[in-house]
Amino acid sequence: MPALALSPTSAIMLALGGVALLVAGVAALIYSRRRPPDVPDIPPAMQPGPSDADLEKPALERLQGWGVLLVVFFVIWLPLVWLLEPGTNVEDERELIEQSVERGERAIELFSEENPGGVGCVQCHGPGLAGGQNLFQGNVVPVPSLTNVCARLTQDQIRQTIEEGRPNTDMPSWSIRLAGSLNNQQIDEIMAYIVAINLDNVPAEQNKCLDPEAGETPEGEESPTTAATEEAS
Ligand code: HEC
Repeated sequence: MPALALSPTSAIMLALGGVALLVAGVAALIYSRRRPPDVPDIPPAMQPGPSDADLEKPALERLQGWGVLLVVFFVIWLPLVWLLEPGTNVEDERELIEQSVERGERAIELFSEENPGGVGCVQCHGPGLAGGQNLFQGNVVPVPSLTNVCARLTQDQIRQTIEEGRPNTDMPSWSIRLAGSLNNQQIDEIMAYIVAINLDNVPAEQNKCLDPEAGETPEGEESPTTAATEEAS
């Protein structure tokens, strides 16, 4: 989260804190103006200090009392913040991912006045990226669906395809480093959107975006199906 972005609750807390501070300030000002009429007007720095007897008992105890109170406050407050911190961070991270998925969702749509960030993957990959067609070198060619691309490619491979395009097909290179129009942040957001929609369409055990080795038989081990056939024969 950018340094100054606040969640609604923390914004409200901050506003309430500000109002409380203001009220306290005004009250202090009014209070300090009021002075009993029969007390001589001596500046505070020139008034006699507390007596030795006061300094040794009530004044000392009052200060120590405040000290204890502050220690108790920090003993409760610091561990509380420390314990809640991981949860807060996870919450923030979730919110950030959600926001980048939303931006990615807008980015894949066509450019328009309402959607100035749209780059139009849907033009070829079809509405909702569910697969489409395109005219390439005079032929109508099918364009793969990206709603299940995680069953075929890992995140690295998808990113590479987006950045570099596919030679000899109409999938162009999108990375600004390869004469494309998208910077890394925009590609990150489109990736976040693609990964998010694949969660609904590709079962977790086949989802290479979540686990690059998903859906593959580990080397040296038999796949469950071969083992079953051998047992049967
Ligand atoms: C001009 C048409 C066109 C546009 C626009 C386009 N693509 Fe493609 N894309 C293709 C074609 C065609 C393929 C299949 C290439 C092949 O046959 O290997 C493809 C393949 C892909 C693949 C690999 C899919 C797979 O299953 O192998 C990904 C990922 C992809 N595109 C992402 C994007 C993204 C993200 C955008 C928008 C930023 C985009 N494409 C815009 C035509 C397009």
